[in-house]
Amino acid sequence: MMTKDALAAYPPFGKDEAERALANAVRLVGENLDDFRGCFPAANSENNFYPKSYNTDWTEGFWTGEVWLAYERTSDGKFKDAALTQVESFLDRIEKKINVDHHDMGFLYTPSCVAAYKLTGSETGKKAALAAADNLLTRFHEKGQFFQAWGDMGAKDNYRLIIDCLMNMPLLFWASDVTGDPIYAEKAKSHILTATNYIVRPDDSTYHTYFFDPETGKGVRGVTNQGNRDGSAWARGQAWGIYGSALAYERLGDERYADIFVRVTDYFIEHLPDDLVPYWDFDFDTGSGEPRDSSAGVIAVCGMLEMAKNLPREQSDYYEGAAKRILKAISDTCAVKSRDCSNGLLLHGTYSKKTPTNQCRNGGVDECNAWGDYFYMEALTRLVSDWEKYW
Ligand code: GLY
Repeated sequence: MMTKDALAAYPPFGKDEAERALANAVRLVGENLDDFRGCFPAANSENNFYPKSYNTDWTEGFWTGEVWLAYERTSDGKFKDAALTQVESFLDRIEKKINVDHHDMGFLYTPSCVAAYKLTGSETGKKAALAAADNLLTRFHEKGQFFQAWGDMGAKDNYRLIIDCLMNMPLLFWASDVTGDPIYAEKAKSHILTATNYIVRPDDSTYHTYFFDPETGKGVRGVTNQGNRDGSAWARGQAWGIYGSALAYERLGDERYADIFVRVTDYFIEHLPDDLVPYWDFDFDTGSGEPRDSSAGVIAVCGMLEMAKNLPREQSDYYEGAAKRILKAISDTCAVKSRDCSNGLLLHGTYSKKTPTNQCRNGGVDECNAWGDYFYMEALTRLVSDWEKYW
């Protein structure tokens, strides 16, 4: 178990080190830019190199988000031009409804199109992101008060929410802010309440997904998709819970979400292995030989750095310190140094590992993944600047 005292003995990431790491990431994004013109990196690498893909998965927003972060750091117009071209592709996708019959509108449209609007006033970005928010609204169930993640709407075998969806809610809050229509924020608020009521277990670990009864709207059972087993804590799910609750608290100011943040974050930290790079599921600990999920670590770091802005001093110092220690450990062991070894930014992520007791396909195990790269850059950006978030 990683105690507070044990964690304090690890070195935190210094600002100079973080600046060097961010400069390296920005350089790599610049070097990879030409390879992904007119296309996107796939969701995960294969042997550490991303194949080319198109704007059809849930993950393309992360590459555009990396390009925006590189633009923010450098003010180099080549990044702005590339990101704005990609924004056109997001508008085309939502207008043609290409693979948008799922809940991941926030992951797709926040770091790409909301960012474009916030950074440049792009009307294309605004139009695309609002259309995506409208699309997400169609997945809300009054019976149960939640957004259905995947599958045909209302189908009993998919009448469920997943913890990841907390990260799709900022798109809806943004949509209410820019349109003045409260409906988006109201539905987001209801979903967050339902999700946090059901997915956090008494021991502060989390379920990945939770089923509801379509007739009554009552919660039925928690099951995993990508975790090791239904009762385990999938590391990335726990990390989505950390960042999702931090954003919910920042937006809603409801102490219930500060409490959830503390519970799920303390569980995450306590279950870190000796080298602070999380295994893909917290069933596994130091020496297990299981693959890591570096992406879970950097998502958790972003959540802690966000929440540190809104906590009393002592708590804030603790979570900021924890974030700096985890980020240093991950950067030291997982950051790509040159394009000879990878065209990503962060090695040792795990997308989904098939086990006898989970439902996912095996894929992206011990590889880079699009969200790991993005949140690594976001975490570094948060450490070196007073960053205005896209979420
Ligand atoms: N949101 C999907 C995943 O984290 O794999």
